[in-house]
Parts: sequence; C-alpha cells; structure tokens
Amino acid sequence: MSTGSGTVSAEMPGKGNLIVQVRAHGRTARPAAALSSPVVVPHRGVGETVAKIILFGEHSVVYGYPAIAMPLLNLRMRARVEPTGGPSTLRCLDWSGRLEETPERFASTVRAVRAALDFVGDPDGRFRITIEADFPPERGLGSSAAAAGAVIRAILDAHDVSASDQELFELTQNAERVAHGRPSGLDATATASSVPVWFQAGETHAVEINLAAWIIVADSGIHGSTRETVGHVRAEYERSPRTIGRRLAALGRIAESSAEDVRIGDVEALGAKMNEAHAHLAELGVSNDRLDALVEAARSAGAIGAKLTGGGRGGCVIALAATSADADRITRAFGLAGAPNTWVYAPHAYEVAA
Ligand code: MEV
Repeated sequence: MSTGSGTVSAEMPGKGNLIVQVRAHGRTARPAAALSSPVVVPHRGVGETVAKIILFGEHSVVYGYPAIAMPLLNLRMRARVEPTGGPSTLRCLDWSGRLEETPERFASTVRAVRAALDFVGDPDGRFRITIEADFPPERGLGSSAAAAGAVIRAILDAHDVSASDQELFELTQNAERVAHGRPSGLDATATASSVPVWFQAGETHAVEINLAAWIIVADSGIHGSTRETVGHVRAEYERSPRTIGRRLAALGRIAESSAEDVRIGDVEALGAKMNEAHAHLAELGVSNDRLDALVEAARSAGAIGAKLTGGGRGGCVIALAATSADADRITRAFGLAGAPNTWVYAPHAYEVAA
C-alpha cells in the first residue's frame, strides 16, 4: 500500500482506462503569504463507481469461462464519508442508522467499510457514511459491488491513502463474498471500469467495440438475488455435472466468440448469440416468466437479440437494436410490457484507450 499520493486510482490491472478515479485532496498548504498559520484542507471522502450489464457470460464466468461486461457510465453510485464525534452511521437506500445496527441486507456494505478502515489503519474510525445510487438495487446491475467499491474508495480518499488496482479489487471482492458467496470478480471489475471489459478468472482487459447498434436495458421491476441463482446453478451442477457443465461451456463459448463480433461489429451474429445465451440461461433455471416476457416483447418489437443480464430471476434484460428507430420501438415495447425503467446505450460511444 502506498500513501499520500493524493489519488486513489481505480485503473484495472492490465489494459484500459477507467473513469473511476477518486481524487484525494491531499494536505494542501495555503499560499505562501498565509503560511504562518498552515491549515489542513480536509479530504473530501468521496468515492464513485457505476452500474454494469453483462453482455455475455453470467453464471458461466463463475466456473472460469470468460465474460464481457459494459459499465453504464450514467448510472453512478456515490459514497461520502465524513468524520463524526458520535457512533458511525450509514445512510443507504431506505436505511439510515447506526452502522453496527445495519440490517443484514447491507452486510456486504458494512464489510466493505470495515475492510477499508482496516486497510487505512483506522479500524476504530467513526464516520457518517452516505451512499446514493442512480440505479435500483438487486436488478443485476451490480449494485452490491458498486456500493462496496464506492464506499471503499471514499474511505481511502478520506484518509488520503491510495491503493493499487489489485488491492481495490480485493477489498471489493471481500465485500462481495458476503453478498454472493463465491463471486467471480466480474462485478467488482466492471463497476470500476469506464470501458467494456473482458473478464476471466481474475484477468481482465478492455474490449474493443465497433458496434453500430444500440443496447436497451429494461428493468423487470423484480428483485433478483444473485446469491440465490448462483447457489441454484451450483446445486444443479453438483447434481448433473455433465449436463450443466455442457451448458456452462456453451455459454463460455458464446462469450468467447462474441469478443470478435463486437470488435468487427457483427450485429446479426451478436443478436443470435444473445438469443442463444438466454435459452441456455433459461434452461439453467435462472430466468422466469417476467424476464422471458420482456425478452419476447423486445424480439417482437424488432430486437436482433435479447437476453437476461446478471444473476437472473428478476433484475434486467438487455436487447440489441440495429437502428435508433428500432431502439425507440423496443423501449416503448418494454414500457408496454411493464418495465418500470429502461436505459438506452450506444456501445460504440465508449472511448477505449489504445
Ligand atoms: C452477477 O452479476 C454475475 C454472476 O455471474 C455472478 C458472478 O459473476 O459472481 C451471476
């Protein structure tokens, strides 16, 4: 761990440039004329991450196959920590109260706070912690990893401590283990990225996207539990290792080959792979009627492909559209099918550093 650099860098190990850079305002002296009474400018104590969608590879990534995920740069998770004289408190979603009384559903956030305080060498530090998100929780958008990542960066920022990319990843993973049991690390990586990422067994790099198409994300309005669906797939795998193993391998192959499709902009091939992936995920038992209905609504409205994204059994679906007019039509279809939120993205708009 290095200290005092003034910047908490969230760059991924390996390639790619990331937005999530928390600038810690280091101790700043006044201008020379005022130096007789130097002041310490308090650190801002802020951290930020983003939502993510998984294009391909959810669930199979847990078994070592590759996955491709996209950060949703307009959907942010912001954390702020301020020193307090009283006991530490947390305000997050509908909860506001003492940190030590935080309900179980925020256990991973509390773990992130404790791990970050240990990391900066201030285990007994007392803070007022506020976490705010632009996106709903438990919708396959990576809210638990994003919340952990944001609060970890805020605590490091407050202490003017910087961490390596790997250390930030490990701290977030530590919290994710509370949320998901055995997370692959994909969410911890993608929610701290500014560019689409390839992820496999802890290794990651930026994905080059040359895709003249639109991705529409639709919220089913149903909470999905990643812990539950990952546990379900694990149980199925243990019961029928060959059958489930073949499906996971098929999902892995789809993810692997999709990297070339996004690089050369083969929209038709990608759409077909999205449909195929959704069918495999449904066979694994991680879809449900609501997600299937949204996927069907998108296809009927002209989507080239559609699938669930994330843990499943709730959460979000994604659809691929060839034109912005198609994207508008699909968005309307999602709305008519009851999706409470939709977001439209142009994947080619990412700036991937060479
Ligand atoms: C959840 O966003 C993605 C899963 O593959 C779980 C994981 O990667 O840890 C379902």
